[in-house]
Amino acid sequence: MKMLKRPQLPKDLPQTPFYFYDEAILKELSEGFRASVDSSDEIILHYAVKANSHPAILKFLHKYGSGLDVVSGAELRLALECGYYGDRIVFSGVGKTQEEMKLAIENEIGMLIVESCEEFEELCEVSKAYPSKTVKVGFRFNPNLSVETHPYIATGLWEHKFGMAGEEVLRMMELSIPANVKLQGISLHLGSQIFDDKIFYDAVNEVVKLAKIIQSKYKKSFPVLNVGGGLGVDYQEPYKKPGFENYGKFLKWALAEWKQLNPDLKCQVYSECGRALVAQSGYLVTKVIRVKSNPKKNFAIVDASMTELIRPALYSAYHAVEKLEPSGLDEKIYDIVGPVCESGDFLAEKRSIEELKRGDLLWVLCAGAYGYVMSSHYNLRPLPAEYFLESNGVLRELHGPLQTWNIK
Ligand code: LLP
Repeated sequence: MKMLKRPQLPKDLPQTPFYFYDEAILKELSEGFRASVDSSDEIILHYAVKANSHPAILKFLHKYGSGLDVVSGAELRLALECGYYGDRIVFSGVGKTQEEMKLAIENEIGMLIVESCEEFEELCEVSKAYPSKTVKVGFRFNPNLSVETHPYIATGLWEHKFGMAGEEVLRMMELSIPANVKLQGISLHLGSQIFDDKIFYDAVNEVVKLAKIIQSKYKKSFPVLNVGGGLGVDYQEPYKKPGFENYGKFLKWALAEWKQLNPDLKCQVYSECGRALVAQSGYLVTKVIRVKSNPKKNFAIVDASMTELIRPALYSAYHAVEKLEPSGLDEKIYDIVGPVCESGDFLAEKRSIEELKRGDLLWVLCAGAYGYVMSSHYNLRPLPAEYFLESNGVLRELHGPLQTWNIK
């Protein structure tokens, strides 16, 4: 299998810590996805903006014909500013405010994905003020299927706040729906870091069952099947591409199922992958501030921390860490930790890495998804700088470190 290529950074590097995103890898990943669905225009990626919302990334994906999945009014506004048409945007989330609903309606987005009966009733009310706008609605179905992943990133069980059980979806079919509200799709999202395709198939089978009931009982059909995101990235193998091929097979199968169910509609399947498109393009570059040891451990204290990358602290997530310029020294076992005053502030634990000393540069791999976007100012640390490594080798600054406080 063709692997992704390790990026080449220029000699002169900016001040650490910083993130950079490698254009060549982004291209490989986008092309991988497109190829897996034979560039079909009936299977449309709606990249999950939350994974990495930098405009440089959104504009890059725009060139590949991607749509977007947003989960806040701010993400929606940014998507529009980055040149996306409303009809290429879907909006999920359990807590949309009326202001967010209005913004979505005014911009005639592709699908407002409602996650409760109460939200739907509210949306129908809000829609009445916009009789000339078509409000396309999707119902997020929660199939109560368990996914093998970290519990914080599983979403498809009834113990999670997301989506609706079939009964609740059916309940909405009983409501009187304003003429400008169009039932556009059924939506799903089972969780993140899914490696076993079977669950995707099981979930679509459940949706098909529900859609059949709606068809026979209410004579209503939905042109769009939105299967959510979740395609896993192997953090242990940072240069191995995500399983686009099998995933593409699944998407094509889902489209065929949906067409069979709705032969008279112009059917489409949406995928909301986020991580798989960007994780491997992103690197967090950091410098060793100092090393220290006690009878139990060696610590390498670096200038990046849980405030730049919270995934290890929050989900015990594994990220590979490498020395930027290895020099052939013997390896030692380190905890690679940040300066933040929390014992949970680590980027890597018990990692065998060539002996480290002050000033050594490291990079943390697969940091392009849920990295910068989850960074914080804890301990009054600035948000890290971001760069874009262009295909021509130029490291373009997107923005420097961002500090903010208010002494009023
Ligand atoms: N669609 C919906 C409705 C979602 O909630 C999510 C992710 C996605 C799509 C994209 O999922 P992906 O393809 O990226 O797995 N912060 C966590 C991940 C949280 C994911 C939240 N929802 C992490 O760092 O692993």
